[in-house]
Amino acid sequence: MCGIVGYVGSQESAGILVDGLRKLEYRGYDSAGVAVHDGKQLQVVRAVGKLKNLASVLQESPLKGTTGLGHTRWATHGRPSEENAHPHVAGGVAVVHNGIIENHLELKAELASGGIEFSSDTDTEIVAHLIHRALKDSERLLDAVRVALRQIRGAYALAVLSESEPGQLVVARNASPLVLGVGDGESLCASDIPALLEHTRDVIFLEDGELAQLSADGIKIETLEGESVTREPKRINWSPMQAEKGGFKHFMLKEIFDQPRAVEDTLRGRLDLENGDVVPREMGIDEAAAKQIKRVCLLACGTSYHACLAGRYWMEQLARVPAHAELASEVRYREPVFGPEDLVIAVSQSGETADTLAAMKSAKEAGARVISVVNVLESAIPRAADGTLYTHAGPEIGVASTKCYTAQLVALLMLSVYLGRRRGTLSADKGRDVLQALVEVPEKIRITLESKDKVFEVARRYQHVQHMLFLGRGLGFPTALEGALKLKEISYAHAEGYAAGEMKHGPIALIDEDMPVAVVMPRDSQYEKTLSNLQEVRARDGQVIAIVSAGDPESAKIAEHVLEVPVAPDVVQPLLTVVPLQLLAYYIADLKGTDIDQPRNLAKTVTVE
Ligand code: M6R
Repeated sequence: MCGIVGYVGSQESAGILVDGLRKLEYRGYDSAGVAVHDGKQLQVVRAVGKLKNLASVLQESPLKGTTGLGHTRWATHGRPSEENAHPHVAGGVAVVHNGIIENHLELKAELASGGIEFSSDTDTEIVAHLIHRALKDSERLLDAVRVALRQIRGAYALAVLSESEPGQLVVARNASPLVLGVGDGESLCASDIPALLEHTRDVIFLEDGELAQLSADGIKIETLEGESVTREPKRINWSPMQAEKGGFKHFMLKEIFDQPRAVEDTLRGRLDLENGDVVPREMGIDEAAAKQIKRVCLLACGTSYHACLAGRYWMEQLARVPAHAELASEVRYREPVFGPEDLVIAVSQSGETADTLAAMKSAKEAGARVISVVNVLESAIPRAADGTLYTHAGPEIGVASTKCYTAQLVALLMLSVYLGRRRGTLSADKGRDVLQALVEVPEKIRITLESKDKVFEVARRYQHVQHMLFLGRGLGFPTALEGALKLKEISYAHAEGYAAGEMKHGPIALIDEDMPVAVVMPRDSQYEKTLSNLQEVRARDGQVIAIVSAGDPESAKIAEHVLEVPVAPDVVQPLLTVVPLQLLAYYIADLKGTDIDQPRNLAKTVTVE
């Protein structure tokens, strides 16, 4: 949670900071602030609410100065307010922070006993006071920050600016993301790459336990113990446009339409169609290990968990290995039993989700082999995993995940084929069929997207909906859950996803003429049974929106609304059927006028429990 950005160079920094924060607003938007050094002193401006509030204050009273730092906040300690907004300042030291200082209460008590008064309820302000105190006995800001860091416990990405040392920033990282930008006569830092791309494509990923000093002359990295670190920058190939809206009204819509490309990029270079196989590179598990595993456990939260539910089907079907999908937030406190014969797969868009990270670490400690499926390069989860299959969906800015979900499905299906081939449970012919079906998915998503106007008409009909049910069987069940989650996240309507076979065990009591029911029922092996559920809903006057395979003759006779996806093999259906449901949620939310890219109370990266 929270976004950090910092700039030091020869340009005016305030505008650069605000532009950078705009790219990070998905990380939190309860308040925003900047601190700029004008060569003589620090100037700090903060505003509650979205970044635009800060931007308009800065427009009326611009700040001058070529060194600065900025922050967009997702509140953890202290309510959203101007006092709790970052940067926090203590005696000429300004600090922005992403993460949680776990021992803040004891540190606060200790500082208070020395006569220090606090102006906020945040854990971050304590860090500013600790650095200010340490500066009295330190030659460099970097050393003072190091002294302060030795006293704190918890997760942090920090950027610090001191009145006494203009022209430099000090940053540090432990378990929260921080990327450094290497520019020409300028240096930058940010919580995520898109905030840097306007200025540089050369980035350095700071590691846990490292600090860095940023100036116009370059970047110096040291460990917490004081050892100097040399690390070459990595070149990022995304264009800045890939992180922009590209003419769409919202990032979410752009990302829904970006799915064919996201799937293609995630497949690229990884398929061996001739042998019906997936190339071993990056899979994080070799043939011997693939044969030894007795159980697969897929761990994730939210949308990524829904991808895991589909992954479970594929692992069982193709690799014939017992598999289960688990909510990471539940696993971590359940004293689960993991061991060396388990393959644990942590799935995450951000790669920073606290629960997923903690659950996978506990599995690893118990001896399980842990691999990850992650979108954000070099984030915490891949760093902690034995291997990672990156989804190449590109930056996802909309808080509601769409293209990363489909890319996760692709990765999990590839992994299932890979395991099946190595375990001898999937022949080359069958493997080829699955992979060929995957290759055809991007075009089929493109075709599905062409029916957006039809989805819009359905959305118009249900724009005032208060409750909606989503039903699906087999591989349609994760899609039903995901359709419901998308609708609640962005339209704030109450939505429930159910396994269609469960309907008679309770939810059928809800069905009446006011209850729209989206039924995921492509022509797969479960079609006949789901069709019966559809009839049961209609018999009780429920209004059915059926997601079907093109040309389905039965559903058209019964359902009020039919949204088609191209005919495709069962195994890839989840990659197609989710698309109309993403669009349906999007259009309902847009017609309602909600804040689609930044829905209330949510954040893109959930680095706290
Ligand atoms: O970054 P992750 O995939 O680990 O995030 C997990 C969830 O927080 C995330 O999927 C969340 O449910 C999204 N808002 C869904 O749209």
